[in-house]
Amino acid sequence: MSLERFVGKVAVVTGASAGIGRELVKALVKEGVTVAGLARRSERIEEIAQELKNEKGKLHAFKCDLTKDEEILATFKKITETLGPISILVNNAGLSPATELIDGDISKWRQIIDTNILALSICTREAIASMKANNIKGHIVHINSIAGHMPLDLVGFSVYPATKYAVTALTESLRREINRNGLPIKVTSVSPGYVETDFFVSMYDSKDLPAYLERSGLKAKDVADTVVYVLSTPEHVNVAGISRRVERVQEHANQLKNGNGSLHPFKCDLTKDKEILDTFKKIIETLGPIHILVNNAGVAPATALIDGDIKRWRQIIDTNVIGLSICTREAIANMKANNTKGHIVHVNSVLGHEIGEFPYLSVYPGSKHAVTALTECLRREINRNNLPIKITSVSPGGVSTEFAEVNLGAEGVKRFENVPLLSADDVADTIVYVLSTPEHVNIRELTVNIQGQLY
Ligand SMILES: NC(=O)c1ccc[n+]([C@@H]2O[C@H](COP(=O)([O-])OP(=O)(O)OC[C@H]3O[C@@H](n4cnc5c(N)ncnc54)[C@H](OP(=O)(O)O)[C@@H]3O)[C@@H](O)[C@H]2O)c1
Repeated sequence: MSLERFVGKVAVVTGASAGIGRELVKALVKEGVTVAGLARRSERIEEIAQELKNEKGKLHAFKCDLTKDEEILATFKKITETLGPISILVNNAGLSPATELIDGDISKWRQIIDTNILALSICTREAIASMKANNIKGHIVHINSIAGHMPLDLVGFSVYPATKYAVTALTESLRREINRNGLPIKVTSVSPGYVETDFFVSMYDSKDLPAYLERSGLKAKDVADTVVYVLSTPEHVNVAGISRRVERVQEHANQLKNGNGSLHPFKCDLTKDKEILDTFKKIIETLGPIHILVNNAGVAPATALIDGDIKRWRQIIDTNVIGLSICTREAIANMKANNTKGHIVHVNSVLGHEIGEFPYLSVYPGSKHAVTALTECLRREINRNNLPIKITSVSPGGVSTEFAEVNLGAEGVKRFENVPLLSADDVADTIVYVLSTPEHVNIRELTVNIQGQLY
């Protein structure tokens, strides 16, 4: 992970006085970035700046109450005048003073909405104006939350999820505006689960803390590391072997023979249950227990639903859904038997979350939507069974592989001829990052797109 392209450039981080923001500004300054940290308690940011005074980059404190529009505008003006144009904005500040909908306090509702939605949008507008004026290949990161994707049943936590759902929608609307305007700016939403910061402490009296919070959570540094990873992806990447043709895997193995690990080819057709079972048996007998399974194999022969070819439908479902589920079952049986802290990665697709507009691909999105649901059902089974196994869905947009040629033929290749695509390396790097996270951190879903594209 390297932030080389941002060394000496300006990053704005809101909510830099505590929690995630504090860890993030430390990480960025250590990487050589010039950071403008915003918060009401700016004296705390001054203290952090002191701690960091011998590091490669520099932290500058800006006192700003994000519920006040004029203060935000004046602060951004001051930042660009004193530090220069903005390359990174991390909208991290957020809060959730305890309040309910039935009998809640309107001033708290307004504070949550003003900080989590409006301030985020104003900061984004100001940062984009600076990036646009200076033709900067910038990056905007919204610190969202799992509460931005699912409602949580917590007392006093009724307004916050609505603000984070809004952040989810704002991220995607902004992505579309940026693409329509051809701006070279990336947008990423990072959605942590429970993080051990002052967030909930300031929300509840310590005696009222819900049981949910008694378990250990992520550390603020884990989220900061995730943001650093997202920022470190190459300019064109936006931060989301078993084979039938075994001779090709053998060729890769030969090329890799001087590496630290080794690659062992296993011939297996994933549409044949018995072949999968025999292959897993052979893998375990010859190589030992399994620690990682990457369910990467997938097909999408061109077919329609109205008058499609049933054989093709079956091939897609058998490979992408049933093959994946059998491999997962076999890997988990082995991880369980050996008490392995394993990791399963499903290579999903952006079409596992949206449908897109691809005339040749009517069944494929169905199979990938199934992978999205299977990932989450498996997560629940794993948690219910207390297994120390991680499960992650990685959803790439279009990738430059043989996929179009193999599945869609010459016409398909032509269709993608002038479309910018991710490289296979980009996706491999994403999976390596997911696997490299510390034991207690689980990336649930990581969508990776080519910058400027939706699919
Ligand atoms: N902790 C979690 O479990 C969790 C989980 C998922 C997502 N998140 C999200 O992560 C982000 C950071 O939260 P955290 O856990 O690090 O919380 P935290 O430790 O309570 O820090 C919140 C930060 O927001 C700043 N802030 C709040 N209101 C502000 C205002 N009006 N003007 C300027 N700054 C303001 C605070 O600074 P001052 O008070 O000094 O102004 C502080 O620096 C939030 O967006 C939160 O929604 C947290």
